[in-house]
Amino acid sequence: RLVVGYALTKKKVKSFLQPKLLLLARKKGISFIPIDETRPLSEQGPFDIILHKKTSKEWQRFLEDYHEVHPEVTVLDPPNAIEHLNNRQSMLEEVADLNLSSFYEEVCTPRQLVIMKDPSSIPTAVAMAGLTLPLVAKPLVVDGTSKSHELSLAYDEASLPMLDPPLVLQEFVNHGGILFKVYIIGEAIQVVRRFSLPDVNTYDLLNNVGIYRLPRVSCAAASADHADLDPRIAGASSETTSRETRQGASWSSGSKIVQHRYD
Ligand SMILES: Nc1ncnc2c1ncn2[C@@H]1O[C@H](COP(=O)(O)OP(=O)(O)O)[C@@H](O)[C@H]1O
Ligand SMILES: [Mg+2]
Repeated sequence: RLVVGYALTKKKVKSFLQPKLLLLARKKGISFIPIDETRPLSEQGPFDIILHKKTSKEWQRFLEDYHEVHPEVTVLDPPNAIEHLNNRQSMLEEVADLNLSSFYEEVCTPRQLVIMKDPSSIPTAVAMAGLTLPLVAKPLVVDGTSKSHELSLAYDEASLPMLDPPLVLQEFVNHGGILFKVYIIGEAIQVVRRFSLPDVNTYDLLNNVGIYRLPRVSCAAASADHADLDPRIAGASSETTSRETRQGASWSSGSKIVQHRYD
């Protein structure tokens, strides 16, 4: 028997702890128990695993204190392991540091620039960094709020000062409107295909000015696992992707985007 205590938002509980999962888990002897965050963890449980997706300083300290007394309990994930994923700069640097292009032909991360403040300085900063428009603007910190996932696309230099730092500016990478999400827990790897933003063409570049708020794409509802795809894109099959991933590949640009995700 395995007891999993969870501290998740109501929204996550609804999307993740679905009856089907709970049933499957029960069959395998796994039970899920909600954690009361207002009470000390050591008065609850006992747990084998603590599953959480909270990042407040207070909660982190709670977990760390608990871990000292109960090192036998697995915390998914430990606060220090999540830290670099809460910031889009460190998130991507981690991937860039893998130096994947020395193992694979064309693996790279989108070129990006961090703007901490002063939106009026953005055009110069972009020019100095040599970034090519259009640019995807993303809030620097990803804290689970829907605001932190509000992305926008800037087509022209003149509108760049309208953006709202702190943010990451990333070159838009055409990838055929599909991406691959790779979920990894230890040895287990799951690859799913999701719809994504369509390619930007010359017409868009010439005719679009300003900042465009991007719709939320590539979420679970945008599954493209069973979609009829251009064979060139579909040909990058899940099996290939998972084999590459096993060897360490993570995010490639060009015709396909692969995204590592803590979700
Ligand atoms: N540099 C980029 N070029 C093209 N499309 C992108 C780029 N960055 C993000 N996207 C698209 O926007 C979506 C959301 O971006 P992402 O960085 O994953 O933010 P979120 O935190 O909302 O998941 C991605 O799934 C992808 O479809
Ligand atoms: Mg994403």
